[in-house]
Amino acid sequence: MKQQSTTSLDTLFIKTYGCQMNEYDSSRMADLMKEAYGLRLVAKPEDADVILMNTCSIREKAEDKVYSELGRYRKIKDKRPDLIIGVGGCVGQQEGKRIQQRAPYVDAVFGPQTYHKLPEMIATIRRDRVRVSETDMPEIEKFDHLPTPKSNGFSGFVTIMEGCDKFCTFCVVPYTRGAEISRPVSDILHECQQLLDEGVIEISLLGQNVNGYRGEGEDGDEWDFTMLLYAVGKLEGLKRLRFSTSHPMEMTDELVVAFADIPVLMPYLHLPVQSGSDAMLKAMHRGHVRDDYFPMIDDLRKHCPDISLSSDFIVGFPGETDEDFEQTLDLVRRVDYDFAYCFKYSPRPGTPASKSDDNVAEDVKDVRLQQLLELTREQTRHHMQQQIGKTVQVLVERESRTDGDMQGRSSDYRIVHFEGQTRQIGQIMPVRITQAYGQSLRGELILA
Ligand code: SAH
Ligand code: SF4
Ligand code: F3S
Repeated sequence: MKQQSTTSLDTLFIKTYGCQMNEYDSSRMADLMKEAYGLRLVAKPEDADVILMNTCSIREKAEDKVYSELGRYRKIKDKRPDLIIGVGGCVGQQEGKRIQQRAPYVDAVFGPQTYHKLPEMIATIRRDRVRVSETDMPEIEKFDHLPTPKSNGFSGFVTIMEGCDKFCTFCVVPYTRGAEISRPVSDILHECQQLLDEGVIEISLLGQNVNGYRGEGEDGDEWDFTMLLYAVGKLEGLKRLRFSTSHPMEMTDELVVAFADIPVLMPYLHLPVQSGSDAMLKAMHRGHVRDDYFPMIDDLRKHCPDISLSSDFIVGFPGETDEDFEQTLDLVRRVDYDFAYCFKYSPRPGTPASKSDDNVAEDVKDVRLQQLLELTREQTRHHMQQQIGKTVQVLVERESRTDGDMQGRSSDYRIVHFEGQTRQIGQIMPVRITQAYGQSLRGELILA
């Protein structure tokens, strides 16, 4: 085994893949490593004393990326044997020690529920010069072991629940993130307040099924998601409230009404349906039929006419026929989405669906994906066109990479570019939309 020295650690590089929950976890890891070792984040792995990968295993491609990226880090470690490399997140959880068998230069492997132990793991690596792995799912809440969150300015994430108990037959999340646990309301409000105190004006509540939230309320009773939303929505200084992801099975009338009722709740809902075929929905174990979905959409649009809607779709699930796929296209035509995220089915180790024959031919999957993309992109384009002439409120996020203009998001989550100034970053500005592109908008700032 290579020798680890006990020279000082100064810098940290984190590479994040996957969902917003991973983004959240990565920022908590950075907080933790800053508190424990005074590490500061750097932009390039070459400059880091510690490299952490926060990985995703939702589809095969996501997992492949981990090993190719690790190859790059290996070269850095060949030159600097003191470099500490850790692999966390969902691949860490799923693969455990197998990662270190395949890539022996990886010092630490951990999962989404064990990253609060990072400082301890790093200490062990440095002291005993060993490799470590921590992938047990502990009973205790990792949140109790994390320092106060630091925001990156105007927008913050708060994880309100962990894990998933839905066990959709294609999905690894219940295995990588464990059972569904909701954090107590008071913890969530406290964390939101800390972000607001630091100047954050937009908060996104995160979880795999946020609308399945059932946590201990401030009165000791169990609160559902809508109750939590009303409580967060009342916090002083909060200007924008968002949440993701929601499950159709957990939609309630109260949640629909909340969109009309909570002024800071932004009019955008991601409500993944995956397929429009009843046979596929059943095989996927989604817990509802297609006809349950349409009334939800109608109700949302009735209570909140400006709401923008999106969904995830999987094409080529085992057994999907042309007719099943046609049902998906039909659902998409009926709903008319603002945005859609479409994926080819990818068998994941350990999931029930992976035991069925992955029997939709790759070229058929490709054709279906293409057809669905064409349809959903056309819908997005059309919704974007309809924005022309409107004045929208844009939370300015950053300078655009493509044209040097400013870029931000409207309340209904559309990307808007306009000519502005960097000092507007973090502010909400009125912009009149003048042009629409396939996936974004351009407008002119309305000056008071
Ligand atoms: N909790 C969310 C989704 C989490 S995963 C929900 O239930 O809607 C994000 C998306 O990845 C899923 O909505 C699904 O469309 C896609 N996905 C998950 N597992 C997949 C797999 N094995 N193959 C292809 N796409 C998958
Ligand atoms: Fe995966 Fe289904 Fe849970 Fe979403 S609800 S995380 S798709 S198991
Ligand atoms: Fe990926 Fe894990 Fe999120 S598998 S999508 S990082 S929960």
